[in-house]
Amino acid sequence: MKILTIVGARPQFIKAAPVSRALRKAHREVLVHTGQHYDANMSDIFFEELHIPKPDYNLGIGGGSHGQMTGRMLEAIEQVMLKEKPDVALVYGDTNSTLAGALAAGKLLIPVLHVEAGLRSFNRAMPEEQNRVLTDHIAALLSCPTQTAVENLHAEGVTQGVRNTGDVMLDAVRYNAQLAQEAKPLHKTLAQLRVLRGKSAALLEDKGYYLATIHRQENTDAPDKLLTIVEALNELNHPVIWPVHPRVRERKEMARLGDHIRLVEPVGYLDMLMLTGHARMVLTDSGGLQKEALFLGTPCTTLRDETEWVETLEGGWNVLAKIDRADILAKATRAVDTRNGTACSAFGDGNAAEKIARMV
Ligand code: UD1
Ligand code: UDP
Repeated sequence: MKILTIVGARPQFIKAAPVSRALRKAHREVLVHTGQHYDANMSDIFFEELHIPKPDYNLGIGGGSHGQMTGRMLEAIEQVMLKEKPDVALVYGDTNSTLAGALAAGKLLIPVLHVEAGLRSFNRAMPEEQNRVLTDHIAALLSCPTQTAVENLHAEGVTQGVRNTGDVMLDAVRYNAQLAQEAKPLHKTLAQLRVLRGKSAALLEDKGYYLATIHRQENTDAPDKLLTIVEALNELNHPVIWPVHPRVRERKEMARLGDHIRLVEPVGYLDMLMLTGHARMVLTDSGGLQKEALFLGTPCTTLRDETEWVETLEGGWNVLAKIDRADILAKATRAVDTRNGTACSAFGDGNAAEKIARMV
């Protein structure tokens, strides 16, 4: 079979690595990079580090409004599909690249396989929620990471082609965590961080720092929310490492960051696993990072009103914090009972990629 895979954003590269490896054992894959993420440290580094095959097409479509970006991608992906005539189109997650790929395939009657189907925040104001609902309703094959995701689809009447494969991000963590350990010890990872603002991270220690990432539109486009997050981080009594997403970097609220916050360039996946595994806590609005924290046994505070990954909340490993100074501080300094370890079983057995490859 000929599979045409569409990726474009950082988390999709990480998910595509194990799936691509599994798919290529039995099928031919044509890889399309939309260009949604284009900085070297948001894109190239993942292809190199995770040995993802070089894209067959790079559409170079990044930036712009949601409609503009999605529309341009739709047009360009359709051209590639008309030329390649794939048997199946494969899309990941909930970005504009996901929706554009699904829509282009749907209109050409090419069956769509959606990896990470069935996730819901039940907040339609999120661009991601619109993308994932629409993609799920176009898809013929739906790979769900959890049973909750299966049930969300059933509640919307989507029952055909649905399979609980487990979460491919568990595959990615299992495969790469050991490689990360072998690649570099923590002190070397810290010393090599490219600091944009704040003190050097070189002398930080295991469990001696918070790891923060913020990029969600709802937190970054509202100046008061971003300022609240910055002010809360400023009051934490441990240093913070913040690999900064390009959409946040130049925001004027960032000038208010205190010295103990190490604002650093985005890092590669292996470094990120090291930083996550050794942090005292993760503070994030990322989807993927909430799970990686759980898989690596690091407590997490999610700076959002809701999460799609409800299983991470069990046992208090992950808690939600409102964008409110006092609430963020209370959650970030809470005591977490780590004695029973984390339960990752809701996310499958770490062999999702093989199961996904068998769906086509
Ligand atoms: C996108 C996804 C989001 C996902 C995130 C992963 C959508 C609607 N959102 O959000 O679901 O969680 O990726 O990180 O698809 N930029 C650069 N260089 C880059 C990439 C982005 O400078 O390499 C800047 C551009 O100014 C761009 C802005 O960041 O306009 C936002 O990028 P965009 O891809 O639209 O959204 P993300 O916030 O990255
Ligand atoms: N990540 C990374 N380097 C960074 C920040 C994040 O490798 O500097 C990884 C992170 O470990 C996770 C993925 O990127 O695997 C999450 O991507 P992001 O937060 O951008 O998107 P989301 O998961 O929210 O869609």
